Amino acid sequence: MRPRLSALLLALALPAAAAELPTLPPLPTTPPPGELGRMVKLGRELIMHTDTAPLTRALVGNKLTCASCHIDGGTTNTPGTFVGTATAFPAWSKRERTVQTLQDRIDNCFMRSMNGKRPIIDSEASIAMAAYVTWLSEGQPMRMNPVKPVTPLFASRWPDKQYAPMFRRATHADYLHGAQVYAARCAACHGADGAGVGSFPPVWGKDSYNAGAGMSKPVKMASWVEHNMPLGNANLTPREVADVVLYVDAQPRPAFDLRQHLLPAARMGLYNSKVLDEKSTVRSNLRAVGVDLDALRGDAAH
Ligand code: HEC
Ligand code: HEC
Repeated sequence: MRPRLSALLLALALPAAAAELPTLPPLPTTPPPGELGRMVKLGRELIMHTDTAPLTRALVGNKLTCASCHIDGGTTNTPGTFVGTATAFPAWSKRERTVQTLQDRIDNCFMRSMNGKRPIIDSEASIAMAAYVTWLSEGQPMRMNPVKPVTPLFASRWPDKQYAPMFRRATHADYLHGAQVYAARCAACHGADGAGVGSFPPVWGKDSYNAGAGMSKPVKMASWVEHNMPLGNANLTPREVADVVLYVDAQPRPAFDLRQHLLPAARMGLYNSKVLDEKSTVRSNLRAVGVDLDALRGDAAH
């Protein structure tokens, strides 16, 4: 009985895993004419070259672009896609404890993933990026989301639920395994010191995302890495994903203190959030998934 049962479970499990990523609807090919089209194209430019584009570079505090995580400008069928995103807004955000617009959602990334300053709502950069992200949902039905500000393509599978229990059980041995996976599968592009190589972006250190970013929360990073990295060859097992994520998210990166990422009051415009006192560090992000940083890294005296 037993081998047959496991064969049956395997047969059931395989198609489920293969069907995990959504199928993309047809994407728009030509931006609309006139000034709207100009804004869509400008928005794409800002998302691809956020750290160097004249309208956004002063607001970016690291060496990343939006497209470092929103691969191919958010046009893939993997986590980080922008396809469908605009159809979910306005949407409830638990993090800010308000209903957020698409511009809010976009601009808040500058404080966290870009370790910079939040653009002003309705500034040209903010509208242009929202125009581009909206264009990618052209023709898709509205699906307002009362629970989370996420594209319908991933609303039910983000973040991946298998990782939280794996992190709760994590040990120093898992961390060492993560270091091996990093050396074998990531370091060629991201550097042994995490600082990036050439045009490949930094994954830790002062030029990477800060401890307030989604990517610095291990469950979210694992859900993203599983389907996006190694770039072009995302074939790690869940165990490898969990361990390499713990390794990367246990390395040093800028701490997050929300108030330091808002422009001065006279220039910041409206900040639509009920949460102004958020602080996060590498240590607190790991504690939130039940991991003690010192024990994980083997730094503790015990
Ligand atoms: C370091 C990686 C990283 C960078 C850089 C980054 N993001 Fe994100 N972004 C994420 C992750 C991870 C999520 C998943 C949501 C979460 O945090 O729950 C996300 C979610 C989003 C969403 C919601 C999309 C959806 O449907 O779920 C938008 C919009 C967005 N980011 C815009 C941007 C913009 C615009 C930039 C550049 C200014 C940017 N992001 C830079 C990692 C990043
Ligand atoms: C073949 C080169 C390559 C390999 C190998 C690779 N990456 Fe990446 N990675 C990239 C590129 C390039 C980007 C930015 C996306 C883009 O430009 O399309 C990126 C982006 C990232 C990001 C988000 C941006 C940032 O810098 O924080 C993370 C996190 C990341 N990779 C983690 C990993 C991990 C973990 C591994 C190993 C399991 C890995 N990568 C392997 C090339 C690579």
